Amino acid sequence: METTLISSRIKLVNLLNESFKSQISKDVLSGLIKAQKSLPCKYFYDTRGSKLFEAICELPEYYVTRMEMSLLNQCAPLITDGFNKGNLVELGSGTNWKIRTLIDQLDDQSLNQINYIPVDVSKSAMIEASNELVDIYPNLKIKGFIADFTSQLNIIRDKEPMIIVFFGSSIGNFNEQDRELFFNEIAKLLKPEDKFVLALDMIKSVETLEMAYNDDQGITSEFNKNILKVINRELNADFDPDHFEHQAIFNNEEKRIEMHLKANRQIKATIDSLDLTVRFEKGETIHTENSRKYSKDCVKNMARQANLSIYKWHTNNEDNFSIVEFKKNLN
Ligand code: AVI
Repeated sequence: METTLISSRIKLVNLLNESFKSQISKDVLSGLIKAQKSLPCKYFYDTRGSKLFEAICELPEYYVTRMEMSLLNQCAPLITDGFNKGNLVELGSGTNWKIRTLIDQLDDQSLNQINYIPVDVSKSAMIEASNELVDIYPNLKIKGFIADFTSQLNIIRDKEPMIIVFFGSSIGNFNEQDRELFFNEIAKLLKPEDKFVLALDMIKSVETLEMAYNDDQGITSEFNKNILKVINRELNADFDPDHFEHQAIFNNEEKRIEMHLKANRQIKATIDSLDLTVRFEKGETIHTENSRKYSKDCVKNMARQANLSIYKWHTNNEDNFSIVEFKKNLN
């Protein structure tokens, strides 16, 4: 465990125990030898991928960020109501700008007794964002964890009151099994006074959904293809992104947008670091991302399965984006 004191108000603990190289090697190998080839969407986000995602959030077609911010601005006072000491934990904190909506609600006296705890895999993003935050909030103390919260959630176990937030509807990028595990872990962590606050993109018309992932400027396409560039660089591979087409379609049965990269010709790619040759027929795809969209019943079921109760449900005027506050079920 490596602890870095960035300043008197920023302490970061690095808990990543597996090297990036060994993780990506395992993931790419297991994904590309399957009948339906797939790659984990976490590999979109190198520096270029993160910039492309930021550009996606500004796109007219990608409603998710705008809907979330507008709802968050409305319900932030309700989320932080009564929270005047303890830990404000943000999972997948990234560039941290959404958390400001909540921090803005806290008075100086409360801020003196609250730690902001970002949890993210990117050390550089956490250092940059933490420095920005302490500049804006002179009373803020940050105790960040560079960790994979899908497997290392128990690091945030604490006696102090806690609000855990997970923004961006990024829960939609989990597969069902991981999502269930994640909810169970959250339920184990929560004490009776704690809350888990989750942003969820709700089901909308297929047209709106598909437009959001097939923008006119082709930025989502670049973002999707960026995963091949990451693999080329990290594993010494020779994928030509131009030999693949971006595809994003709504799977109505699974209620999710599925992103694929579809081979536009027969392809043979080599991945030197894995000593692997991968062949594609024309039209064959690599499944790169799922983005689940939710119904109210589905959210209620997820809570029930994990023995969580729904404490407050915030929704926008169109009733198609939700921020839900969960608590531990006491019976
Ligand atoms: C990060 N995540 C919630 C985004 C989503 O909408 O699933 C990623 C994304 N993929 C394509 N566009 C945006």
